Amino acid sequence: MAHKIEIEHVSFEYEGKKTKFPALNNININIKEGEFICLLGNSGCGKSTLLSILSGLNKPSSGRLLIDGNEVVGPGVDRAVVFQHYSLFPWLTAKGNVLFGIKQSGKKYSKAERNELANNYLKSVELFEAKDKYPNELSGGMQQRVAVARALALESNILLMDEPFGAIDPKLRLELQELVLRLSKDNKKTVIFVTHDIDEALLLADRIFVMEPGRIKEELKVNLKTPRKREELVKTEEYQELYQKLFSLFYDRIREDIYEETML
Ligand SMILES: Nc1ncnc2c1ncn2[C@@H]1O[C@H](COP(=O)(O)OP(=O)(O)OP(=O)(O)O)[C@@H](O)[C@H]1O
Ligand SMILES: [Mg+2]
Repeated sequence: MAHKIEIEHVSFEYEGKKTKFPALNNININIKEGEFICLLGNSGCGKSTLLSILSGLNKPSSGRLLIDGNEVVGPGVDRAVVFQHYSLFPWLTAKGNVLFGIKQSGKKYSKAERNELANNYLKSVELFEAKDKYPNELSGGMQQRVAVARALALESNILLMDEPFGAIDPKLRLELQELVLRLSKDNKKTVIFVTHDIDEALLLADRIFVMEPGRIKEELKVNLKTPRKREELVKTEEYQELYQKLFSLFYDRIREDIYEETML
């Protein structure tokens, strides 16, 4: 069963030695079971901060976060996270990292089953050949793919992904987008996916939240038919309308900022 998530009046301040920085201000989002949510927004607007609260690593300064009606008090295996700065265990090989995810899932697999599952997850991110390498022997994009495989291996109902495909080349990125989309739909996973990429958001999301510093600027429902194939999707009028809308929401702000700076 997938999970529903309620973010109620969540604010968050980073506390330094002398100063406080308000990174989120009164965020309210209700996410249905099995929904695919994308968070879109410029650098520094609070996307990773919101994800850290969803993961339970940071607690809201005020407001609350509920999963299936229960308040979240810390991290849990019901939520798998791919961090923006993907963090693998350096003392484990690529396969060791994925096996770790499988063990964390708490499912009662035999050793042979765990081995086969790990191999399959590694194949799905095209890393089977590199399975015995350690993180420091892998490129950035390869490490990111191991982090994705490890998160999928947890088989959790909630997937929190912070720009998981940022360092991955376009062809494989397409394949991984389709993989995550298929897994989430087949297993009714609830996904919260951070991206800078409008195309990626439109391909994946049921709803998109556009953020500006500390707050949600706009919510957009994506009623494009599924399954979505990028080649067909980009030709439709609905897609182009949504793209234009997001583009102006996203870039007007940058234009305003540049204008303000040049006028100083
Ligand atoms: N540990 C921290 N201490 C103090 N301020 C922080 C800390 N982490 C983030 N911030 C501030 O909080 C704000 C939101 O940061 P966050 O990392 O959530 O942004 P983001 O939307 O994920 O950006 P990006 O797209 O660059 O990853 C930024 O202004 C940042 O400077
Ligand atoms: Mg971030």
